[in-house]
Amino acid sequence: MGSGYGGRTMELTEAIYGRRAIRSYAAEPLSSTLIDDLIDAAIQAPSAMDLEPWAFVVVEGAARLKALSGRVKEHITPHDLPPGIAAQVQAMLAAPDFNVFHNAPTLVVICATSDAPQAIEDCSLAAENFMLTAYAVGLGTCPIGFARPWLRREETKRELGIDPRYVPVFALVVGHPAEHPVSPGRKAPIVIRATSQPEVGAVDVGDAGSVLV
Ligand SMILES: Cc1cc2nc3c(=O)[nH]c(=O)nc-3n(C[C@H](O)[C@H](O)[C@H](O)COP(=O)(O)O)c2cc1C
Repeated sequence: MGSGYGGRTMELTEAIYGRRAIRSYAAEPLSSTLIDDLIDAAIQAPSAMDLEPWAFVVVEGAARLKALSGRVKEHITPHDLPPGIAAQVQAMLAAPDFNVFHNAPTLVVICATSDAPQAIEDCSLAAENFMLTAYAVGLGTCPIGFARPWLRREETKRELGIDPRYVPVFALVVGHPAEHPVSPGRKAPIVIRATSQPEVGAVDVGDAGSVLV
């Protein structure tokens, strides 16, 4: 573990259950050592065939991000929004003072460096490591899916110094949290227990188990 954490640690399950999407941040910037340490935690994630197909773009400065937010919003189309709540989200985005980066001091964009078939999964696993470790050391994070259409533009890649072949996969903001939200909860997961006898159809009848048909 690097030097930026100040020796703080946390039980893994405490981090998994306690991490929240943070949408309010203190103005205090993060040190580059701390960001480097979080990236180091991120790259401990597994990657398909050990290819490590990731790059980390760090954009710093709450004022800079606030200015970029307006441009990000210009590139979000209804097609980028979930159908059921598109109108509601569009109304939120239309508010002039809505900052897609939530006034955070730092944006990190995890990019796939190749078109390896599972690079998206690899980058997403790195993102989860980053967010859990940030939470464990007292920081807040929030994935920023809204930024993806803008990030994937050639002009944006040029502006941020991203190799044109890289694919921005997972953007997240990180900073000192100015809120401590409670969990929105989770729906019961859909769990399918595959039958061990696939040659005959089986119908799951809940507690009674499966009946063959
Ligand atoms: C791929 C992805 C994209 C997301 N994009 C945004 C976003 O653009 N803005 C935002 O405020 N939250 C975003 N979120 C955060 C989710 O809204 C949040 O994770 C969800 O409401 C559950 O809350 P929790 O993370 O506190 O458990 C995103 C989450 C994921 C996984």
